[in-house]
Amino acid sequence: MVSVTLRLTVNGRPLERTVSARRSLAEFLREDLGLTGTHLGCEHGVCGACTVLVDGRSARSCLLLAAQVDGATVTTIEGLTPGDGLSPLQAAFRDCAALQCGFCTPGMIVTAHELLAEDRAPTRDVIREALSGNLCMCTGYVNIVRAVERAAAVLRGERA
Ligand code: FES
Ligand code: FES
Repeated sequence: MVSVTLRLTVNGRPLERTVSARRSLAEFLREDLGLTGTHLGCEHGVCGACTVLVDGRSARSCLLLAAQVDGATVTTIEGLTPGDGLSPLQAAFRDCAALQCGFCTPGMIVTAHELLAEDRAPTRDVIREALSGNLCMCTGYVNIVRAVERAAAVLRGERA
């Protein structure tokens, strides 16, 4: 087995780990680091459940090898969760009933986080476009889009 030694930052913590060169980033996060908020659905880059931020940009952790993020900064849903309480996006998902089984929710929130980091006032169409690569089998998306609108309003200081 070929191994590689990685140095990276995950959720603000610098780490060094030796992993198989074939280990996916999703497996590395879930199994080696215990960050199971990153969900694995299709494992083929289709569903978006495994979305994380790599150097601030959303990426499908099932399609990346851990070796490819050597030197990078990775943020998972755990890293977007305050030590106490919920982030505005998480609270909005709860308040708008934007989740049912919750399997897609971490990927939805990571993707929406990336959007709101760039655009605090996205239109409904922009939100739908941003989330179009994240599949949800439960909700019909209406409440998910509302939740992102609500979180955007909170981040603009328009709602408590
Ligand atoms: S598990 Fe990665 S896109 Fe579906
Ligand atoms: S809430 Fe179940 S898949 Fe989206």
